[in-house]
Amino acid sequence: MGDWALITGASSGIGHELAKLFAAGGFNLVLVARNEARLRQVAAELLDQSAIRTKVLPCDLASASAPDQIFDSLRDTPISILVNNAGFGVHGPFAGIDLGVQTDLMQVNMTALVRLTHLFLQPMLARGHGRILNVASTAAFQPGPTVNAYYASKAFVFSFSYALAAELKDTGITVTTLCPGSTRTEFFDRARMPVSRKLPMMEARAVAEAGYRGLMRGKRVVIPGASNKITSLLAKWSPVRLAAAVVAAIHKPGR
Ligand SMILES: NC(=O)c1ccc[n+]([C@@H]2O[C@H](COP(=O)([O-])OP(=O)(O)OC[C@H]3O[C@@H](n4cnc5c(N)ncnc54)[C@H](OP(=O)(O)O)[C@@H]3O)[C@@H](O)[C@H]2O)c1
Repeated sequence: MGDWALITGASSGIGHELAKLFAAGGFNLVLVARNEARLRQVAAELLDQSAIRTKVLPCDLASASAPDQIFDSLRDTPISILVNNAGFGVHGPFAGIDLGVQTDLMQVNMTALVRLTHLFLQPMLARGHGRILNVASTAAFQPGPTVNAYYASKAFVFSFSYALAAELKDTGITVTTLCPGSTRTEFFDRARMPVSRKLPMMEARAVAEAGYRGLMRGKRVVIPGASNKITSLLAKWSPVRLAAAVVAAIHKPGR
């Protein structure tokens, strides 16, 4: 019958690559995102390559009721791995960005992640095993002028997930926080976020592989790529004013 993994944001980028890795590992998959056509394409591609089962659950995680609807529709599907990957950013001067977009960002990146974690953790605790992968970012390690809400949301995901991992020690449930640096996906276009052409970008496949490996080993934090590890350490050790100035320069239009 096989174990089930649920992946949010499985329609593109890192989530899509994670779905391929889980399928290759023999996991049945619940695929969540808004774009149903793309989710069905992903499901077809996975079924082509592996003998797993899939469920496609199109939904908008910016809607407050979405996590409960997902949980309720999976009452007969024991989820042993939860991957909270869906997320988006928005770039620009804070005062000029529509507040609705900012609150949607907080709902998707933080509230839905917390709610899905809380809901799916209960049956995992009852079974005495489970794995959770929460996708944060290297953005978690410093403030991000002109990308304020996004950077703050990832700092929240990091802190929340690390604390939960420590709290769940010895329960059989592991929580892994994946902190990618800049990765070649649709993320920057969707966020209308300029990035320096000199900024090194990782491929989504390599990021997903690092996350999958770390999750399976029960690691608490995974920062894929040597340069991301180094810049994360530098950000943590630098005065916050300097770290924030570096981010502002990276995201300056025209670079
Ligand atoms: N790319 C980077 O440089 C980078 C760096 C660090 C961290 N990350 C994080 O990695 C995660 C994956 O992003 P990505 O880089 O793979 O970008 P992406 O290609 O834009 O993928 C984002 C995924 O999230 C889903 N999503 C967005 N809003 C949603 C909503 N309201 N409801 C349900 N699903 C939603 C999207 O699907 P639909 O549009 O179909 O809903 C898509 O599947 C995000 O949490 C992002 O913050 C990315």
